[in-house]
Amino acid sequence: MKQLTLLLSFVCGWTLSSAQDIQVQIDTKTNGPTISKHIYGHFAEHLGRCIYDGFYVGEDETRIPHTDGVRNDIIEALKELQIPNLRWPGGCFADTYHWQDGIGPKDQRATIVNQWWGGVTEDNSFGTHEFLNMCELLETEPYLSGNVGSGTVKEFADWMQYTNNGGVSPMSELRKENGRENPWNVKYWGVGNEAWGCGGHMTPEYYANVYRQFATYMTGSDIQRIASGASSNDYNWTETLMKNIPAHLVDGLALHHYSVIDWNDKGSASQFTEEQYFITLQRAWEMEELVTKHVAIMDKYDPEKKIDLIVDEWGGWYDVEESTNPGFLYQQNTMRDAMIAGMTLNIFNNHADRVKMANLAQSVNVLQAVILTKEEKMILTPTYHVMKMYTVHHDAKLLPLKIQNNATYKNGANELPAISASASVDQAGITHISLVNIDARQSQTVSIPLSGVKKADVSGSVLASAKIQDHNSFDKPSKIQPVDFKEFRVKGGQLEVTLPPASVVVLEVK
Ligand code: AHR
Repeated sequence: MKQLTLLLSFVCGWTLSSAQDIQVQIDTKTNGPTISKHIYGHFAEHLGRCIYDGFYVGEDETRIPHTDGVRNDIIEALKELQIPNLRWPGGCFADTYHWQDGIGPKDQRATIVNQWWGGVTEDNSFGTHEFLNMCELLETEPYLSGNVGSGTVKEFADWMQYTNNGGVSPMSELRKENGRENPWNVKYWGVGNEAWGCGGHMTPEYYANVYRQFATYMTGSDIQRIASGASSNDYNWTETLMKNIPAHLVDGLALHHYSVIDWNDKGSASQFTEEQYFITLQRAWEMEELVTKHVAIMDKYDPEKKIDLIVDEWGGWYDVEESTNPGFLYQQNTMRDAMIAGMTLNIFNNHADRVKMANLAQSVNVLQAVILTKEEKMILTPTYHVMKMYTVHHDAKLLPLKIQNNATYKNGANELPAISASASVDQAGITHISLVNIDARQSQTVSIPLSGVKKADVSGSVLASAKIQDHNSFDKPSKIQPVDFKEFRVKGGQLEVTLPPASVVVLEVK
């Protein structure tokens, strides 16, 4: 048996051990795929206080420092996160948005009633130029969602010409008249959003045909056409699109999944029981099965993995905070959200061969936000800190891993794996391991066999707090933030790490 173990270890590159503790076995020999930095993407919809009174306070604002109306503190915070892309203008809003209403002199722009989110009237002062210029400030790639549900093929094609045509054309001339000489060269284009719901209540067969029509007129040398994808476990949607859309017309297929306890009773974002915590994480953990099964369908039609899986909406969704507009989806963000983020990003990393982009919903003041604002104040949420800790994985090579003897986190008859993990090696040869212990009560000790590892080579940071409900607030903005991690030792060629309850740890091994 021992000989077989040694042989397997040699052949597979896995370091095996017979100990019964939780083991994270990292395969350092297999050349894994690159973890696209675009997995760490964000999402900014015209929804509640995400754009207006969030990112954008307007050019006339005098109390809050800004650049062309965009808050400087948000720009700085998101640059620190190295956000790779930003999806806009929706979401559901995208299929109501007519981009030509948002260009030209601001006092002449048509208004729009935001039919999905609170029925508020927007003045369109934040439009294509404002968004794409903001992406330049943020040093991030724009990801535009085009209007398919209530728009036309011509309107969509004109938007592409307006943003991307560097020559002479009706739309590039209009862009120049509006003050922008050079094109922005937008690469990522969503063809509608949730076409099965707010994007037109289409059947997958019907949407596949509509998609083919729109995609035919999407031209440009370096563009990615992303089809509106399934909701959670609607595998028939993925199957129908993969079957009916010719591969040369599509570059990515979307998937949306929210961690919500019950759509009719979502529960408070910050006053929740441990049972509600468990159920939310159960929903988040479903992402592993969803990605695996959607990928299996994609593999059937596209074995060479030319079409990417793009999870362009994910995150926790709770009841709105008291006395806020129910249509604005403003919610606090606690250690529960840090667990969702750590676990979900580990899942995406581990499926990096097919998951090439993802977008947390949403960036500012909406759903699982990384930033919350209140007048001139701004706070960074626990989710922000997880995203920041995980920047080490951006464009690094995945190191496949296996977790053996994982502990279980139980709620009555239900149980979840307590530990989730992913690992990568960056261009400088430094290994990073991200570990999440979702158990709200128990710390967990994890052994990681690493040949030749010395304690001096290892460092790390941890995000944890006394209670799973803990969060940052405008009065205590720094209650939760990462600190140096010291709970590890090296013993017999193994790194032994003790993870506090409900914690995220990222280790660096030189
Ligand atoms: O992110 C909020 C909403 O959730 C989006 O507008 C929509 O696409 C999804 O249903």
